[in-house]
Amino acid sequence: MDHMTHTFQIDGAEIMARIEALAEISETPTGLTRRYLTEEHRRANNLVAGWMRDSGMQVREDAVGNIIGRYEGNPPGASAVMVGSHLDTVVSAGKYDGALGVLTAISCVQALCDRGIRLPFAIEVIGFADEEGVRFSSTFLGSRAVAGTFDRSILDRRDAEGISMAEAMHRFGLDPELIGEAARRRDEVLGYLEVHIEQGPVLENESLPVGTVTTITGACRLEVIIEGIAGHAGTVPMSLRCDALATAGECVLAIEALAKGFGQTVATVGQLSVEPGAINVIPGRVRFTVDIRAATDEARNQMLAAVHERVEEIVHQRRAASTIEVSHDANNVACTPSLMEAIDRAIEANGWRALRLPSGAGHDGSAMASITDIGMIFVRCKDGVSHNPDERITHEDAAVGANVLLHVLRHFKDHNALSHT
Ligand code: GLV
Ligand code: MN
Ligand code: MN
Repeated sequence: MDHMTHTFQIDGAEIMARIEALAEISETPTGLTRRYLTEEHRRANNLVAGWMRDSGMQVREDAVGNIIGRYEGNPPGASAVMVGSHLDTVVSAGKYDGALGVLTAISCVQALCDRGIRLPFAIEVIGFADEEGVRFSSTFLGSRAVAGTFDRSILDRRDAEGISMAEAMHRFGLDPELIGEAARRRDEVLGYLEVHIEQGPVLENESLPVGTVTTITGACRLEVIIEGIAGHAGTVPMSLRCDALATAGECVLAIEALAKGFGQTVATVGQLSVEPGAINVIPGRVRFTVDIRAATDEARNQMLAAVHERVEEIVHQRRAASTIEVSHDANNVACTPSLMEAIDRAIEANGWRALRLPSGAGHDGSAMASITDIGMIFVRCKDGVSHNPDERITHEDAAVGANVLLHVLRHFKDHNALSHT
């Protein structure tokens, strides 16, 4: 085993305690929900900023609402390795998705700071503002702003309460006109590293606490509106109805059948709303979302085309009308080979077998890959359960994830020198 790794070790206790403290900040009294640009986002940024300062970092909030702590290297002012994850959550979320990566990164910096260690580069810990994209239907809003690929048309998108992203930014204290200032130059960033729970069962089946991510899945999100004709539930004969919900129901089942038939493709209808939504009124309008992912970009695009075609066919047969809008589209992204190597070596230096696995979930690294090298470390989670309040990891596994990240950071110079000569 490598001498440097064992000069000091992070125990997972502080990470786990901070996970609990952060999970207290929720829009809902039960279950964890923390969406972009809410009061709870503000409180989470403030709490995390305090921990960053306590760990020797200079803290700022950028133009899109990401919170960033900078730990200077030697010499000061050097380019930075960025390390982090996201602070937003899905609705009724688990505590670890996102938070683990930010808090692990802070503990790594704290371990360096406590020992007065400065690396030959800066470390910037980042808590991305929006990775889940539950509020405005498009995702990676924080990391796309940093990568300089933010799509300004999203500023006009409205949330379920009719508040546009631009209005929500103003209320949060940010100016949408300045969003471009969150973008980082390629030469300022040496790489992006993220620790994240696996959100699947592979590591648990292999009895391994951590693994090296190979690729991050792409995803496509659709908003479908079906227009039927609202009417009296008692007077309109079945043969004369144009029921938007029955039409949508047929579409949902058809989408499920298509995904099953495609192989290594998944499709999910996760939101559906019915108008006018009364017990004795034939549904006149339905909005539903579709999330499509596949092993390759080609398969995802084929599935997208098939969904379009099938929905239009069903809607036509039922004499309804539909509109389909693509609200988000991201390609599959590969992690950087030299960083995968560095993570494998760090896992081995911590006494574990290095296992490589792909990610079926989206991550901020997929946006960051357009400006820098990316590497991801997965931490085992219980029964592969995620996007669910039952999401769990162990204290011991959190510690392994942190020590692997610390090892990668402490050897990053070597990796960087090797990969850029
Ligand atoms: C985020 O977790 C996603 O994969 O949708
Ligand atoms: Mn998630
Ligand atoms: Mn996540």
